[in-house]
Amino acid sequence: MNILLIGSGGRENALAWKMAQSHQCDQIFIAPGNPGTAQFGTNLPIEINQFEALKKAALAHQIEMIVVGPEEPLVKGIYDFFSNDPLTAHINVIGPSAQAAQLEGSKAFSKHFMQRHQIPTAHYAEFTIDNYEQGLAYISNHVLPIVLKADGLAAGKGVIIATTHQEALTSFKEMLQDKQFGEASSKVVIEQFLEGIEVSVFALTDGTNYQIIGHAKDYKRIGEGDTGLNTGGMGCVSPVPFMDEAFMAKVTSTIVEPTINGIKQEGLVYKGFVFFGLMNCGGEPYVIEYNCRLGDPETEVILPRLQTDLVSLLAAADNGTLEDVNIQYHDEAFATVMAVSGGYPGSYQKNFPIQGIEAAQKLPDTLVFQAGTGFQDNSIVTKGGRVLTVTANGTNLQNAVQKAQKGLSTIQFEGMNFRKDIGYEFA
Ligand code: AMP
Ligand code: GLY
Repeated sequence: MNILLIGSGGRENALAWKMAQSHQCDQIFIAPGNPGTAQFGTNLPIEINQFEALKKAALAHQIEMIVVGPEEPLVKGIYDFFSNDPLTAHINVIGPSAQAAQLEGSKAFSKHFMQRHQIPTAHYAEFTIDNYEQGLAYISNHVLPIVLKADGLAAGKGVIIATTHQEALTSFKEMLQDKQFGEASSKVVIEQFLEGIEVSVFALTDGTNYQIIGHAKDYKRIGEGDTGLNTGGMGCVSPVPFMDEAFMAKVTSTIVEPTINGIKQEGLVYKGFVFFGLMNCGGEPYVIEYNCRLGDPETEVILPRLQTDLVSLLAAADNGTLEDVNIQYHDEAFATVMAVSGGYPGSYQKNFPIQGIEAAQKLPDTLVFQAGTGFQDNSIVTKGGRVLTVTANGTNLQNAVQKAQKGLSTIQFEGMNFRKDIGYEFA
């Protein structure tokens, strides 16, 4: 079958790489893609939210499956757009309906959902401009630190962890009164700070059944030892040593199953990936957030680790056979290390030529996934903050990280930076 993949990051490069290995996959088209995805299919110059143009391309290329990488088109209703149109209703769109995507698109929606289904999460309250004064009082009486979240999508910047009451009050004012994130911060969720280690768990569901397809630990801070500003993710490891059978059993019974049952009970149309952003608080898992997509860079380790054919798995989510799929993982440990532009996550320059990608790809057990790259005069140049990531597998996590770093040592671009301590706490 022909597949249309939507997005242009490292996640989509990994998805294209994995789907291209399937005997069920004929051609892959990627909108808009990047030079990394172009190795596995045809990039189309269509942006992720141009639904009409995507529909035209889907019909022109006899697309039978659409895999949506990022959250924005999902929250904007890409699933509904294709399913409600008789010309495209036959296409298997992997991603939830707009209503179900509110699990990511609205923090308040997801908190209510968790409350209804008794899913462990941080205590919270929500405020708008209408109960602003109550919000100020609530913050003043709250223990520190205080977590403030813009309700809607804010490009990963909508969460503030305030360590003083003054900081929390200022952020609260900026979000609600100054509309810092526009419509996305017209509602603010204030929640309890959860102390622990984060881990991302991924499932694929058809709205009734599910399969867990992997988990990973993401390193979000720019600096070594988890210091400095938050980024989109600087690297990942999988499997995570504390994700043993006992902890995974708790995650499944207290979080994954109640979530899938909740989706089913509430009649939410959900055929796609569920990303459980969890906190391991002294051995007890809590939900920090849901996302309605795969993570980036988590995908760059979970897909290499997953042995099961991805296209068959996605087809099973469409034809009611998800329950019968046998999920298998490689035995080895996987790590990915992200190379970013100098200055990121602050301002940075673009269009620097990148050398050494091919050499890195030739190293054993090493994969290069491109993220913020583009073509310029037949060479590959930097186009974003997170430029590319190198994934490697090894006999243990340290070995995998070493190989990924070796891969990165063959790659160069001006200002290139990467964390040298991915997986450090498990050494
Ligand atoms: P979110 O967008 O909800 O994933 O939040 C971004 C990041 O903020 C998370 O990955 C956590 O590192 C942190 N965070 C969010 N909520 C909490 C919380 N209740 N307690 C501690 N850290 C949190
Ligand atoms: N790496 C975190 C995310 O994709 O949201």
